[in-house]
Amino acid sequence: MKTEVAQILLKENFSKKDIINLLSTTDTTEANKLYEKAYNIKKKYVGNKVYLRGLVEFSNLCKKNCYYCGIRSGNKKLHRYNIPDAQIKKSVAYALKNNFGSVIFQSGERDDSLFIEQVNNILKTTKRITNNKIGITLSCGEQTKKTYEKWYDSGAHRYLLRIETSSKDLYYKIHPENNIHNFETRLKALKNLKKIGYQTGTGVMIGLPYQTIENLADDLLFFKNIDIDMVGMGPYIEHPDTPLYNLRHLLMSKKERFNLTLRMIAVLRIMMKDINIASTTALQSIMPDSRKKALISGANVIMPDLTPVKYIKDYFLYENKPCLDEGSDEYLYSLEKSINQIGEIIGYKKWGDPKHYFERQKK
Ligand code: 5AD
Ligand code: SF4
Repeated sequence: MKTEVAQILLKENFSKKDIINLLSTTDTTEANKLYEKAYNIKKKYVGNKVYLRGLVEFSNLCKKNCYYCGIRSGNKKLHRYNIPDAQIKKSVAYALKNNFGSVIFQSGERDDSLFIEQVNNILKTTKRITNNKIGITLSCGEQTKKTYEKWYDSGAHRYLLRIETSSKDLYYKIHPENNIHNFETRLKALKNLKKIGYQTGTGVMIGLPYQTIENLADDLLFFKNIDIDMVGMGPYIEHPDTPLYNLRHLLMSKKERFNLTLRMIAVLRIMMKDINIASTTALQSIMPDSRKKALISGANVIMPDLTPVKYIKDYFLYENKPCLDEGSDEYLYSLEKSINQIGEIIGYKKWGDPKHYFERQKK
């Protein structure tokens, strides 16, 4: 007799009930079957290469006030920064020198013209100093279609905009309900990114207060329905200087959030075989050395933090965010070693575009 997990894994398409069952699997032997299937699919469809994206968190100024995030505008304890262009160039040069295929520029959300121009300059400079050798992802929040088009024309070709949760109800439990925090606007922004031609990524936080397994199953179905190219999902981690910290008694243990995140990655890989899935920093910070585990559960992208160390401590989205110098030779050496240990290799010099993007262009 096959177990329920094994039965579900034989199916071509998962129903919502199947997804809920897989996400609820806490038995280690059963969960391992799920990871194994996801890893085999990953190897078959996207290969055994891991793509590196050098992350540059270039500014922690943010106009928003999300209840979960340490760099929300309401947090007055934080020192705000905007990394000077010369320093950003150094991080980009480091990525190039170390054969990274891509960089990601991430910041808090602003939509003033100074910010729009700053990002535009960063894009143009990066294209110029790397001779177009490096792929560029942006993660700078909701913007108008015009701004997204401008940045696309200046060289960004991927964009990450997490929906945070696909449940409108839950969205307004973790964000204020007002003009600048609007669920429909965020959805519209994601659709605009796809329309413009970006390789488009989204994601959610896992283990939020009030979040149910059903919500998470809906999140996975949401990714599939909007036909997304890339996903970055990580555990929610409480931060003392945020309103959501008061609800920390509702949270699962960190270990449970970690395991649930691995199951989310694995089920998603089976559902969307050729997309890029990131092993996120939040995952790494609740469980050291978890990157390897995420890779053997279906992830294929890692984002070493190349933000100059003196700024990293102010990009404190959640508790215990690592302040490691991931842009050091020692770090990269040990990263490569641990990736090789599981039989994977780093896709040096490769942009590592999601295959899914090209497949959906053909449709
Ligand atoms: N825990 C985990 N992830 C968080 N983010 C923001 N705050 C937290 C937190 N407390 C994530 C959000 C956002 C990304 C930049 O960081 O998903 O989109
Ligand atoms: Fe700003 Fe993003 Fe944090 Fe919200 S999650 S407060 S938009 S940085």
